[in-house]
Amino acid sequence: MILVTGASGQLASRIITHLRTAGADVVEGSRSPATGGRAMDFDAPATIDMRGVDTLVLVSAGYAEDDVVVRRHSAVLDAARRDGVGHVVYTSLVGAGDHLGFALAHRATEELLHRSGLGRTVMRNGLYAELVGALLTWDGGLLESPFAQGRVAAPTRDDLAKATARVAVDPAGHDAVTYELTGPAFTVAEVAHRLEAPVRELPLGKYREGLLAASGLLPFQAPMLASIASTIRHGFLADHGPDLAGLLGRAPDSGVESAVEAALAARPGALMRS
Ligand SMILES: NC(=O)c1ccc[n+]([C@@H]2O[C@H](COP(=O)([O-])OP(=O)(O)OC[C@H]3O[C@@H](n4cnc5c(N)ncnc54)[C@H](OP(=O)(O)O)[C@@H]3O)[C@@H](O)[C@H]2O)c1
Repeated sequence: MILVTGASGQLASRIITHLRTAGADVVEGSRSPATGGRAMDFDAPATIDMRGVDTLVLVSAGYAEDDVVVRRHSAVLDAARRDGVGHVVYTSLVGAGDHLGFALAHRATEELLHRSGLGRTVMRNGLYAELVGALLTWDGGLLESPFAQGRVAAPTRDDLAKATARVAVDPAGHDAVTYELTGPAFTVAEVAHRLEAPVRELPLGKYREGLLAASGLLPFQAPMLASIASTIRHGFLADHGPDLAGLLGRAPDSGVESAVEAALAARPGALMRS
């Protein structure tokens, strides 16, 4: 049996769909599972039940301070060891993303996984193309970008999900492997071209000022988002390697269309227009 955590999330739900399409025996793990799923909250370790699970797909539960995220993942790996899970597939962050504000929690989790003695595969995911699009902002019909001319090898969530499902159905064939999962690189200029929108470049200081002034952001999020902008802008996420194509058996999709859709969805009034 394969258990996928974070089942209600955008990546995990796609992984589950691809596993079901492949005919795998899948169970959903979630704080709010569908019928037949397992209720589990990583912040409440007593709720984590891994009995009967052969392969665990641990989708990172980020969006919190490092200590919280590492504690969550540590609790899951403790439960996996206790309950006799055979193999863990962990969705991590691409190695080139070490300058990103959320890299540390991923590297700490990889280390915990390594030391756990469990069978393991690390899926080091590039920044989602959808995230790149969603981080662009609009001023009327003008697209604002903090990424300058930076190229970003951002894969689509769906390609990452397909690759993860491929690994989860044959974990022994991927044991002790770390995959660096990137897509064809693109720039915001290509996204803007599809949107037929002019781009205004935001210097990092102005971008950070806007983040700090924004309501609804948690304290860790402004520096985290600023680190994404700086890392893309300075070309650290531009390199596209072969691992994702190797798992998919074809070239990864370009992320441009996904970024365009995400940018359109983030445009004020998008819901009213659709
Ligand atoms: N590579 C990238 O570009 C990138 C960007 C952003 C985030 N990430 C990481 O990738 C993960 C998946 O991305 P996504 O786009 O699918 O995010 P998402 O749609 O926001 O889903 C995040 C999932 O994390 C799970 N989660 C949060 N707190 C949890 C807790 N206390 N216990 C158990 N599960 C918890 C939730 O699962 P349930 O609600 O089902 O319990 C939620 O569905 C994120 O959580 C984050 O760590 C990667």
